Amino acid sequence: MIDDIILARSLHVLALVHWIGGVAFVTLVVLPLARSRSSTTDAMALFNNVERRFAVQVRVSIPLAGAAGLWMTYRMDLWERFADPRFWWMPAMLGLWLVFMLMVFVLEPLLHARFEQLALREPASTLRRMARLHSLLLSLAALTLLGAVAGAHGFY
Ligand code: HEM
Repeated sequence: MIDDIILARSLHVLALVHWIGGVAFVTLVVLPLARSRSSTTDAMALFNNVERRFAVQVRVSIPLAGAAGLWMTYRMDLWERFADPRFWWMPAMLGLWLVFMLMVFVLEPLLHARFEQLALREPASTLRRMARLHSLLLSLAALTLLGAVAGAHGFY
């Protein structure tokens, strides 16, 4: 029989695969492809089109990952882990989630117009900065994933 904690864990992982997998695809495939284009206008158009579609989808997967994670924390009463250094991956998960929530729901809508202007004025350096930011976030996500899978399965 499937209980609510198993269901929450499954939804947590499903949402993570969509969200972090998408970040990996944008970082490792779309951005290098865009930066290899000879026309910077084409490059920005490619990046913007992919990012816009992905942004709509992660507005579902990011909150779902967080809701399922918080539900597991509440149901298994794991709050004390946030203060225990052996469970560093718990605050790492929460911190990473908060950063993405802020980016997707606050910064992106707020700074969208300014970003478009900057991309028109300096497309090459905007793409370079985007590539750096995505690489940093993907590295943090990979580290968190490694720590969380190992930690959730008994590795200290
Ligand atoms: C609000 C944010 C989040 C909360 C409260 C949260 C909470 C949790 C909890 C309670 C567990 C179960 C731990 C256990 O069974 O011992 C878990 C598992 C896990 N979480 Fe999160 N999480 C959050 C976000 C994230 C993020 C952003 C990532 C990835 C970057 C992540 C990756 C994982 C992974 C890989 C597992 C292990 C799944 C398994 O193998 O069973 N979580 N999370």
